[in-house]
Formats: sequence, C-alpha cells, structure tokens
Amino acid sequence: MSDLNEILLEEEAAADCGCDEKSTFVPDADAVIVGTNLTKRFGGMTAVDCVDFELREGEILGLIGPNGAGKSTLFNLVSGFLPIDVGTITFNGVKISGLNPDRICHLGLGRTFQAAKNFPDMNIFDNIRIGALFGIKGKSYEQADIETEEIIKFVGLEKYLKMAVPDLPLAIQKQLEVARALATKPTVIMLDELMAGLNPAEVDEAMALVRKIRSGGITVLMIEHVMKAIMAICDRIIVLHHGRLIAEGTPDEIANNPEVIEIYLGGEA
Ligand SMILES: Nc1ncnc2c1ncn2[C@@H]1O[C@H](COP(=O)(O)OP(=O)(O)OP(=O)(O)O)[C@@H](O)[C@H]1O
Ligand SMILES: [Mg+2]
Repeated sequence: MSDLNEILLEEEAAADCGCDEKSTFVPDADAVIVGTNLTKRFGGMTAVDCVDFELREGEILGLIGPNGAGKSTLFNLVSGFLPIDVGTITFNGVKISGLNPDRICHLGLGRTFQAAKNFPDMNIFDNIRIGALFGIKGKSYEQADIETEEIIKFVGLEKYLKMAVPDLPLAIQKQLEVARALATKPTVIMLDELMAGLNPAEVDEAMALVRKIRSGGITVLMIEHVMKAIMAICDRIIVLHHGRLIAEGTPDEIANNPEVIEIYLGGEA
C-alpha cells in the first residue's frame, strides 16, 4: 500500500462520527476486511454506529444481533450497496469504501441477500452462469459453462435443474443464491441469514455447505439468527446492538457474555 493511501485511510478513519472516543482499533495482521469507525445514518436514526471490525483470513465470522441491530446495513456498506457516512473499509489492504458493488465483487467479495435475489425467469443453470460470466472479465462462454457445472455439483443442485426457480423450496432458493455468489469466484463471501426459515434438516445441510465453502479456501462472514448454527460453525462472533458493536469473541465467550445474554433474554431488544 502506498504512503499516500495509508495517510488517506487514517484521515478518513479518524473523521468525526459522533463517538465519545476516537477509534484505537488495531486490526490483526491476517485481517482481509477491516472496517474502521463505520457509521451509517438514515435520517435521524443511526443504523451503524462507529463500528470497528475485522474479518480474518480463512475464518468463519458470525455477525449476530437483534432485529434492526444494523447487521444487513453493515453488509450493504461493505459490499458497496450503500454509501458510508463516516469511516473506511479496506479489502486486502485496498480501500473499497466508495467503490460500486460491481467493482467490489470483481475484487473478490461475494454476497447473498436476506431475501434471495435470484432471477425468476431464468433456469438454475443460467442464474449461476451469470455469476460465472460476471466474475472475471474476458472469460469465455465455454469456461463459464464449465464453472457453472462445477458449482452446481459443489452446492448439490443437480436434482433441481429442471424446476422453475420460483417453484424451488426456500432452502434451495437460498442455495442457488449462494451458488450465484460462488460463481463470481470470491475469496470472501458474506451470507445474510442463509438459514432463516429452514427446517432443522435444512439448517444442517446449510451448515455443511458453509463449512465446505470455507474448506475450499473462502473466508466467510455470516449474519444469522439460528444460534445453534452460529455457535457450532463460527470461529469468532461479533455482536451488534442498536448499531453498536457490543461484543467480540469465540462462541463460548459470546454465549457467556452478560451484555449479550441481556439483549437476547432481557426483553429490551
Ligand atoms: N434503506 C433504509 N432506509 C431507512 N432505514 C433503513 C434502511 N435500511 C435499514 N434501515 C433501518 O436501519 C435499521 C437497521 O436495519 P438492518 O436491516 O440493518 O437490521 P438487521 O440487523 O439486518 O435486522 P434483521 O435481523 O431484522 O434483518 C432498522 O431500524 C431499519 O429499519
Ligand atoms: Mg437483516
């Protein structure tokens, strides 16, 4: 990274976000995504409030918090779907805050949405193929087709290929969304509530898929309300509450954190 780039990042990260304290956040050496002082306001409401966080290479990081805590908004900031008001985001040391979502995707960051955004009028193959063609410029159609076949097998969508996308069960619609993101060849994938609305057997399948994705060398950041899954598969968890990052730790540490227990069980969320 150039000296000028470093100076610009420090200046932006130190910008006034209304926090009581200045950020003293020092990310780990193996951090691939670093967010510093992230703040997003919608009118008078602060959805993401002075958040410092890092995603470390090769980990599965869980992002939890009550409804409305700002989790999806944080995803939208990182993936460029919403502009940030204050703060800086870097991806492999390169500033990505301010870039468009397509540019961020081309740098290797894939994401899914809380409500799946598959193309309803296209079949499964073409939905994934779009991701494969988009991922890297100059790719041939033949290569995109080969990669699409590979991803169909990797995710396990073979037996649904003849079904219309709107007729797919919810769990499969979500798997297709993951497949589309994987087709862009990300090094980091962000999953927004992959397991919401799934039955226990489908949750187990989704957990296996997330583990398989990580085993394939992709770093995972996942928002999830299904605690059983989060606690079982995450290496680390961060907790948002009213836009603020209130806790960070291993699943055990989070499960025993009094503030986290209070917001989940105290009825004040
Ligand atoms: N585009 C928007 N315009 C205005 N307000 C928004 C917008 N997006 C989110 N918000 C508000 O910001 C807050 C955080 O929303 P967000 O969707 O990030 O929460 P969340 O943690 O993902 O919640 P959930 O678990 O229910 O998905 C909420 O109060 C929400 O209503
Ligand atoms: Mg959300």
